[in-house]
Parts: sequence; structure tokens; C-alpha cells
Amino acid sequence: MSTDQARPRRSVLYLPASNPRAIEKSRDLECDTIVFDLEDAVAPAAKDEARKNLLAAFQAAGFGTRETVIRTNAIGSDDYLNDLQTIATCAPDAVLLPKVSCPTDLIAFARDARQAGLKLVRSAATESDGDIVPSGQIPSGLAVWAMIETVAALTGLHQILEAHSVVALDCLVVGTNDIAKETGVSPGNQRLYLMPWLMGIVLAAKQHQISVLDGVWNDFRDTRGFEAETMQSLAMGFDGKTLIHPSQIEPSNRIFSPSAQAIQEAQEIVAAFSLPEHHRAGVINLNGRMVERLHLEQAQRLLAIHQGICA
Ligand code: COA
Ligand code: MG
Repeated sequence: MSTDQARPRRSVLYLPASNPRAIEKSRDLECDTIVFDLEDAVAPAAKDEARKNLLAAFQAAGFGTRETVIRTNAIGSDDYLNDLQTIATCAPDAVLLPKVSCPTDLIAFARDARQAGLKLVRSAATESDGDIVPSGQIPSGLAVWAMIETVAALTGLHQILEAHSVVALDCLVVGTNDIAKETGVSPGNQRLYLMPWLMGIVLAAKQHQISVLDGVWNDFRDTRGFEAETMQSLAMGFDGKTLIHPSQIEPSNRIFSPSAQAIQEAQEIVAAFSLPEHHRAGVINLNGRMVERLHLEQAQRLLAIHQGICA
């Protein structure tokens, strides 16, 4: 289990980097992660100002334990090259690349990042520019997240993830609005027709042991609809939900937090496996229930996330 995998990402709030009021407000919001957007939420004429806002905001700091992420403009665009310069100065925890569609995008990004002086984290489990990151330590450098929101990405997801010798992604973020726009498939009816693609993204993330975040719920006044979709996200195996409005943070945190019962069960599993008689056991009897080592790994991850939430 990598350190990043154990980081809580229940509530991942986007905000337009062109909006100083939203930036200011985010320092007091209870979200796990803030994504400062330079792409879709920022009008072309406001891009320069948005980058200046970020430089000032990161210099002032004050984001506490919240994970910070900057979403760039389209790979290869002039704005994106300027975004990378801003990221080099701001040093957020991660960069979120929009519309990643094929390994070539990652090859181009790796080159541009190097030219901008960015030091990338490959992944907590693998090499980082030749250094092995010891387990349990937060890797230094910039993590790379990818938006999965194009038809090309949906059909070529495994090639993208298998390009990890170029850039090892730490997190996939579903862009439901762009998927619906590009395919014409309606996101309605509890996302019935999007479901195979969404589950494909979740499965690919699990295969590569990286985080996966669900898309946004646009109608932020419809709290009932938001809660229903967030409960669906949890059941689908997502690690958290991307959000657009502060009112979505509390329900997302509540739904994605491990329950008291789940925490207690996890503690019991860890305690049982640490007994001397179970040290070498692959499977044990815990109060009449079969528990295997795979449950121990699940329990450890859940407790690490719980610890992150309480920190
Ligand atoms: N992050 C931080 N603060 C936010 C916020 C966000 N995403 N969205 C709204 N707020 C703040 C507002 O500034 C306002 O603060 P204040 O009343 O204390 O001054 C408060 O929350 C209430 O906002 P409200 O009036 O309900 O909404 P709005 O009209 O200001 O904004 C949106 C509505 C949709 C424009 C705004 O929520 C937004 O920009 N969301 C993010 C969009 C985005 O980043 N999209 C890209 C990815 S899909
Ligand atoms: Mg998009």
C-alpha cells in the first residue's frame, strides 16, 4: 500500500483560480483536497490573472493539511506551458492534467515538466528519479493526476496506465461532463449508460493501485440528488467525489468516512493478526468468521485513512 493510497480524498473541491474569494474561503473549508482550476472554469482572458492569484495564494500558504492540486490547461497549449512555470513556483502536492488520452500525452508532459524544472513523484511504491521512497514516508515532489474524460482515454486507459515508466499516475479523476459531451450519452437515469465506462475506470485504478475520484454533481442546490449519487460513488469503489461547491463537502465527507463499526472491525483484524500465534497464518478464525491476509491489508488501509481524517 502506498502512502498516497492511504490519504483521505473524500471531498475534492474544484475552484476557479480566477476567483480570489473562493481561494480565500478554501483555507477554512473541511475538504480533504483543493483543486485550483486553470482550465475550464477560467475564461481565456482571465488565465494570466488566475496564475498570479495562485502565486500569491501559495506564497501566503495557510491550506493546512489539505492536499493541494493545480489543474492545467490542455497539454501542449501555451497556457499549459505557463501553468507549469506557475506550478514550479507554487509547489502543490499534485498536478491534474486534463483530457489525458494516450501515452504520448504523458511523454510530452514528462518532457515539458523536466524543462519547467518540476521533480515528479513516480509513485510511492516505485522509484522517484532513481531514489526509492521508503514506505510510510510521504514522497517529495509533484504527484501526477489525470482527468479521464475523452473517448480515446476510455478506450485506451490501460495503455495510459502502463506508461508508468514515463509518468506513473497517482490518481484518476472522472470528467463526467466531458464524457457526456463527447459521447452524447446522457448522465441521467442514475448514470445507467455511463456505468460500464465508469466501472472500467474504477477497475483500471484498482489494478494499478492508485486512487480514483468520481465526477462532479452540477446542480449544487439539489442536495438530495447529490447525496444519492455520492452513495452510488462509494458503492462503486471510488475513493471520493470531486465537488464544485462548499455545500457538497459535509455530505461527501460523511458518506466516504469509514463507519465506527468498520473502524472497530479493522482494529480487531489488525490486533488478531498481530498475536504471536497468528504471525505466520494466512487465514484465521475471528469470532466465527473467516479472515484472510487480504482483509488485513484492507483493514490497514482503512485505519490509515481514518488516521488521515483525524489528523
Ligand atoms: N470553492 C470555494 N468557495 C466557493 C466555491 C468553491 N468551489 N463555490 C462557491 N464558493 C463560495 C462563494 O464564493 C460564496 O462565498 P461567500 O458567500 O462567503 O462570499 C459561497 O461559497 C456561496 O456561494 P454561492 O453564492 O452559493 O455560489 P456562487 O454563485 O458564488 O458560485 C459556482 C457558484 C458554480 C460559480 C461556484 O460554486 C464555482 O465556481 N464552483 C467551481 C467550478 C469549477 O471549478 N469548475 C471546474 C471543474 S468542474
Ligand atoms: Mg473537463
